[in-house]
Amino acid sequence: MRDSTSSSNEAVEVVRCRFAIIGSGIAGLWTALHLAPSGPVAVITKSKLRESNTQYAQGGIAVALPHTDSPLLHKQDTLEAGAGLCDEPAVDILTREGPEVVRELIGRGAQFDRQNGRLHYTREAAHRTRRILHSHGDATGAEVQRVASDSAVELPQIQIYEETAAAELLIVEGECVGVEAVTTPEGQRRRFVADHTLVATGGGGWLYKYSTNPPVATADGVGLAFRAGAALQDLEFVQFHPTALADAGYPKYLISEAVRGEGALLLNSQGEAFMQQYHRLKELAPRDVVARAVFTEMAADNNHQVYLDFSPLGETVMHERFPGIIAELHRRGFHPENGPVPITPAAHYMMGGIATDLHGHTGIPRLFACGECTSCGLHGANRLASNSILDGLVFGKRCAQAMAAVPPLSSQRQQQAANLPTAPLAAGPVELKQQIPELMWKQVGIIRHGDGLRQACEVLAQWQQQIQGRLNPTIPELEAANMCQTAWLIATAANHRQESRGAHWREDFPQSSEQWRKHILLKKSAPDRIGISQQPIKTSAIGGG
Ligand code: SIN
Repeated sequence: MRDSTSSSNEAVEVVRCRFAIIGSGIAGLWTALHLAPSGPVAVITKSKLRESNTQYAQGGIAVALPHTDSPLLHKQDTLEAGAGLCDEPAVDILTREGPEVVRELIGRGAQFDRQNGRLHYTREAAHRTRRILHSHGDATGAEVQRVASDSAVELPQIQIYEETAAAELLIVEGECVGVEAVTTPEGQRRRFVADHTLVATGGGGWLYKYSTNPPVATADGVGLAFRAGAALQDLEFVQFHPTALADAGYPKYLISEAVRGEGALLLNSQGEAFMQQYHRLKELAPRDVVARAVFTEMAADNNHQVYLDFSPLGETVMHERFPGIIAELHRRGFHPENGPVPITPAAHYMMGGIATDLHGHTGIPRLFACGECTSCGLHGANRLASNSILDGLVFGKRCAQAMAAVPPLSSQRQQQAANLPTAPLAAGPVELKQQIPELMWKQVGIIRHGDGLRQACEVLAQWQQQIQGRLNPTIPELEAANMCQTAWLIATAANHRQESRGAHWREDFPQSSEQWRKHILLKKSAPDRIGISQQPIKTSAIGGG
């Protein structure tokens, strides 16, 4: 790379950089942009630079910028949606630092929709006010990804490594010294020796049969961090989006919650609205409530159809506010102008992930993490809609500050890292990539039961046995191993939490319980064992830093 050195250690090309960033969604790129003034940054991404969950976000960015809003109100909505499991200091930081980072994003060229020259805000479920910025109607993520990607490509300190999959974090005497990656279908190696490594690999929607996420969302960061010995927090909380298009396509096409925010209604197959039976906020109830209601209505109805009725919007709003969604629906043969479209819930977002503090420290020296693959207690048991891009922006910047402050590796440590033997990498049979999503949808999905969860844990523990060390694994084999380990961890956490809260709903424990108002932490305790512990929720607000 431009300001770094590249050498060869027999079977592996060694790249020396100050910062290694794994993942090119908003969390990874925003951190990279803020690190660039401090030294060479390698951004490692297993697909193309723009292929991330960020790219496909529709609804927008929740931020307390409108004069009718305040960070305190945004914080209250986030805490309420989080169903008692948010850490208040994390929410405090997100909502108070949000306006500044969004202004910075606009300063870097992001174009958000305006009305009469002023920024226009839409509304989404569980927000008490209009506070969601959006771009090109319903293509907010693509705009954010465009600005972050273009800015990163322009900076000489940042080198992008596409089609390079992180395979294993390199740990020497307890500290992270970089990452071993695989670069080609034949499994060629590239080793990044870095002073600081950031895991920002995004989510794991691909663990479920129905998901709104792109195929890159295979929970790689959780697998990498688990094998390296990091703690994982709140993995049982997987958010299902209530309104993905119920056609044969895969992944499922997301129909933004903003459509309901502008007035669309959910109807059963008799054409009756049903949300009033489930929550006083009806279509704008928290996402977990709406997803379960849709799922329940589908199960009660033999033809498994629930619909989204766009007609309350009127055709002008439909076309002006949601041009991308309407065009895509037309392309797939659906015409919301003429009648309701069929919808289904689909896995959308992981609230849990690598446990971090409020600056992205993971507990392993020199290893940081940020974005959807993490949990700092921000999203609790159910993320408030449109808080995820803001999460990447706010906590990405904070990670960069912390990473830039740590001194570089000693030259002896750099040498040790470069000379590590080329060890086998965790690889699973690619068939698991089909089997895991079926199992997870059935047994670890929207409505769970102890019997199904225990069964899933057993099957996943058996599948673990098929993960083997391979010297030249392919990228799909690496993904299969990460998916298998993460699925096993999610099922274990879901089995452990004997209550219902937010997105984690158990038929055998249908109530929330104060006794379970705690984070569940998982950590590797032996090669095939998970250690489980609990941690209290942090409740006191802090002064922004
Ligand atoms: C949506 O547009 O409904 C998705 C927004 C989000 O997941 O935050």
